[in-house]
Amino acid sequence: MGTQEEPKIVGKEEEEEEEEEQVVNPWEVSAKDGGKIDYDKLIEKFGCGRLDRSHIERVERLTSRPAHVFLRRGIFFSHRDFNEILDAYERGDKYYLYTGRGPSSEALHLGHLIPFVFNKYLQDAFKVPIVIQLTDDEKFLWKNLTIEESRRLARENAKDIIACGFDISKTFIFADFDYVGGAFYKNMVEVAKRVTYNQAVGIFGFTGEDHIGKVSFPPVQAVPSFPSSFPHLFSGKENLRCLIPCAIDQDPYFRMTRDVAPRIGCHKPCMIYSSFFPALQGESGKMSASDPNSAIYVTDSAKDIKTKINKYAFSGGQDSIEKHRKLGANLEVDIPFKYLSFFLEDDAELEHIRKEYGAGRMLTGEVKQRLIEVLTELVERHRAARAAVTDEMVDAFMAVRPLPHMFD
Ligand code: TYM
Repeated sequence: MGTQEEPKIVGKEEEEEEEEEQVVNPWEVSAKDGGKIDYDKLIEKFGCGRLDRSHIERVERLTSRPAHVFLRRGIFFSHRDFNEILDAYERGDKYYLYTGRGPSSEALHLGHLIPFVFNKYLQDAFKVPIVIQLTDDEKFLWKNLTIEESRRLARENAKDIIACGFDISKTFIFADFDYVGGAFYKNMVEVAKRVTYNQAVGIFGFTGEDHIGKVSFPPVQAVPSFPSSFPHLFSGKENLRCLIPCAIDQDPYFRMTRDVAPRIGCHKPCMIYSSFFPALQGESGKMSASDPNSAIYVTDSAKDIKTKINKYAFSGGQDSIEKHRKLGANLEVDIPFKYLSFFLEDDAELEHIRKEYGAGRMLTGEVKQRLIEVLTELVERHRAARAAVTDEMVDAFMAVRPLPHMFD
């Protein structure tokens, strides 16, 4: 439950001894032989804990509100030291949230929305501040983008993030090209000095062909976990705990961070991890911005959504109506049902679809139709919220300023 084995950050040799069955890292998510991601194996390999009913009940008790759908349905499924955050909160100690986005595309896709929607819920429920990192430097280093283009994408993505409803009095959004320096940079070099090249290779899989920009990046994503990187926010509160909600692909960064933290006199950050919102084609990979046909973007029109779902969403239904009525849909592989389990909020309706579709009384076309309605409504709502986000608002969220009401 709360206690979990902390894995050593392994060197390359140890890593290579393990049979590489599925790949999950910040740059690639792929299951073994086109199957499904095995999350139990991932928990075991990474050495994370599993979220269970007791965590969810605690969250409900501490926040006096029902747990978010993503918690109730096990979409956020894993953690590191989440109990420590809850213990501290119970004692009356607040914490801060940290999450981020690597601005590689003009708009977010539905998978990216998941951590932001969840962070916004945690911000409201626990009344805590959040820092949101836009790693424009990371995307410049990894993608074929100019510095100016990654900076522009960071601001565009900030609009989508603000549209998720974050409270400006409790939110600081920053882009690395603007913010890295001062106290933040001091923490970066403290971290960098304590991770060997072999460890970086073991954790991130860098090869001799990778440029050193990549090798030097991980401390940039590590140090927002430390309050001292934000003196304008947390001066005098250097003991504040940090909780990082994101998908489990980011764990390598935070394994490294947690290994270094106590050695530089900081708390280890705590994590709460989601599974991946899958590609339209099936659950062997995550929805990814690099393949437009695998993803539904928050900028897609109603027509795009309808076409993508009807054309690409992998169905677990049978290939003839007779067979389907007899055998029912295979919900284990069905993407429309999976997507509904993320975004259809009504538990009773989801259960009804699960039973009826699973028994063959409901057809794939009907389930897809319901999914098209749900996603069109979600995307329309997001589009309207984004349209209301002005450049002045982006500047205001990104201004380096104290947040006197961050715990109110
Ligand atoms: P990026 O831009 O790849 O992803 C942004 C956030 O979305 C999550 N995510 C997904 N979640 C569910 N289903 C998916 N298909 C899916 N695809 C992406 C990611 O886990 C992430 O939370 N290096 C980071 C940026 C970053 C960051 C952070 C992320 C900087 N600091 C702290 C999390 C926490 C990146 O490129 O994320």
